[in-house]
Amino acid sequence: MPDTITELPDKHPVLRVMPMPSEVNPQGDVFGGWIMAQVDVAGAIPAMRRARGRVTTVAVNSFLFKQPVSVGDVVSFFAEVVATGRTSIKVRVEVYAERHPAQPITVKVTEAELTYVAINQHGEKRELPTPQ
Ligand SMILES: CC(C)(COP(=O)(O)OP(=O)(O)OC[C@H]1O[C@@H](n2cnc3c(N)ncnc32)[C@H](O)[C@@H]1OP(=O)(O)O)[C@@H](O)C(=O)NCCC(=O)NCCS
Repeated sequence: MPDTITELPDKHPVLRVMPMPSEVNPQGDVFGGWIMAQVDVAGAIPAMRRARGRVTTVAVNSFLFKQPVSVGDVVSFFAEVVATGRTSIKVRVEVYAERHPAQPITVKVTEAELTYVAINQHGEKRELPTPQ
């Protein structure tokens, strides 16, 4: 599948990371589980900020791998809260890869939506605080 070239969103990524050779699958692309783990971490960052404390992942509502990621790509994760409930926070995560440093291109590689729940020190759900 050809890369659909785009640009990075005009906002700060919550996470930027370069995958290493230990993260590849037998096809030579980065293992999907590695990306899923990074997406979970990235989504937790705005969720923790909104919850002003600990959260846990209750659901991965959707996850789409649009393009493969390769070793050496600079992978940027953008995450924002899209909805909140009594205890839950829904976060949308978009992932972009910057490839080929000699002739750089940017492609969107993943889109996901996850739900986190605010928890207390015992791991029990708690009500979200009033937004600041
Ligand atoms: C998350 C947890 C604390 C929720 O406790 P619970 O008593 O089951 O909570 P509830 O069923 O009342 O759901 C809590 C919130 O999550 C939401 N939720 C539950 N299941 C959901 C799902 N499948 N999709 C989206 N949201 C969901 C509920 O709508 C509720 O939101 P609200 O309070 O904003 O209305 C508990 O299920 C838990 O500890 N799960 C394990 C989490 C974990 O270990 N995650 C890491 C996985 S490795």
